[in-house]
Amino acid sequence: MKVLVTGGLGYIGSHTVVELIANNYEVVIIDNLSNSEIFILDNIEKITGVRPIFYNINLLDSQGLEEVFNSHKIDGIIHFAAFKSVSESVKNPFKYYNNNLNSLMNVLNFMNNKNIKNIVFSSSCTVYGQPDKLPVSEAEPFKKATNPYAKTKQISEGMLEDFINFNDRVRGISLRYFNPVGAHDSALIGELPKGIPDNLVPYITQTAVGIREELSVFGKDYNTHDGTAIRDYIHVEDLAKAHLKAFNFLNDSEDKNNYEFFNVGTGIGYSVLDVINSFENINNLKLNFFFKDRRDGDIEEIYSDVKKSKKVLKWKSERSLDDMMSSAWRWQKNLANF
Ligand code: UD1
Repeated sequence: MKVLVTGGLGYIGSHTVVELIANNYEVVIIDNLSNSEIFILDNIEKITGVRPIFYNINLLDSQGLEEVFNSHKIDGIIHFAAFKSVSESVKNPFKYYNNNLNSLMNVLNFMNNKNIKNIVFSSSCTVYGQPDKLPVSEAEPFKKATNPYAKTKQISEGMLEDFINFNDRVRGISLRYFNPVGAHDSALIGELPKGIPDNLVPYITQTAVGIREELSVFGKDYNTHDGTAIRDYIHVEDLAKAHLKAFNFLNDSEDKNNYEFFNVGTGIGYSVLDVINSFENINNLKLNFFFKDRRDGDIEEIYSDVKKSKKVLKWKSERSLDDMMSSAWRWQKNLANF
């Protein structure tokens, strides 16, 4: 089967491409390198022995897409390509609406015209806002989005559902990721932020390697066991496997016209200090960190109820926080070689 992976050179996309190839899928990648590097394609080849077909195309470029779809018989799509910085989305909401929503519209349009049946969509736990109940299950309603990035994910899920209701040949799944961290065991692919990282783990590894002077811990007065905010960190390799399960679920599904959504997390909440402790202990390092005020737009606590993904997708996470922190550090050190 031939799978189109948009954003396939990005962080989660590249790990999923490796997983797809390992499971004998033929992969076509579309990525415009806006937040990724071309050496990731070489490294995917080093890991798998296969060089996926690659197009450097913007998903807003309908003519470019037409050429890709005319050249390949695509059986299904995994759509990662999107902007994902919360802070940037607050400063430049139009950039986020334009890119994240119009690119999904284009993809859905081509699914409609080219008779493509299955799509897995990259969503986020951010769709829940600060939920009333924890762990948060898929039955919880969306709360008001706390930033434009979050709003694009809420709207995208709605667009996908409407599209599937309208086109009864299409099936789709939204995967709501919690906090993906860590890197591939080979240390050949991993998270590759351009500029100053927004997210905790790349900031930690860049501080440890000396690119950043110090790590700021945002907030120490949250109502949690140590006062720092709690998230559900999920190893990117576990997350990549969840995409395989979701894609296979769509292919095997009897139900012709189906839209589903699943949480993808571990079900365990760790605080920022828990993450720092794990990083220091497993890698035998000391981090230079200081407490700062809470970061605007941050929520106190979120972690997933994973019953539905276990039951329906037959997926569950396998790797520990220590695995996440050791692989993230191996990747950061290996980056100097690329
Ligand atoms: C958020 C979204 C997530 C989205 C991601 C994309 C929520 C609940 N999660 O993740 O869905 O995919 O953005 O970027 O909205 N922290 C520090 N110091 C730092 C960086 C972060 O203390 O230098 C803290 C944050 O305050 C937070 C935790 O670490 O408590 C995790 O932050 P981060 O890695 O940025 O992810 P989220 O904001 O949870």
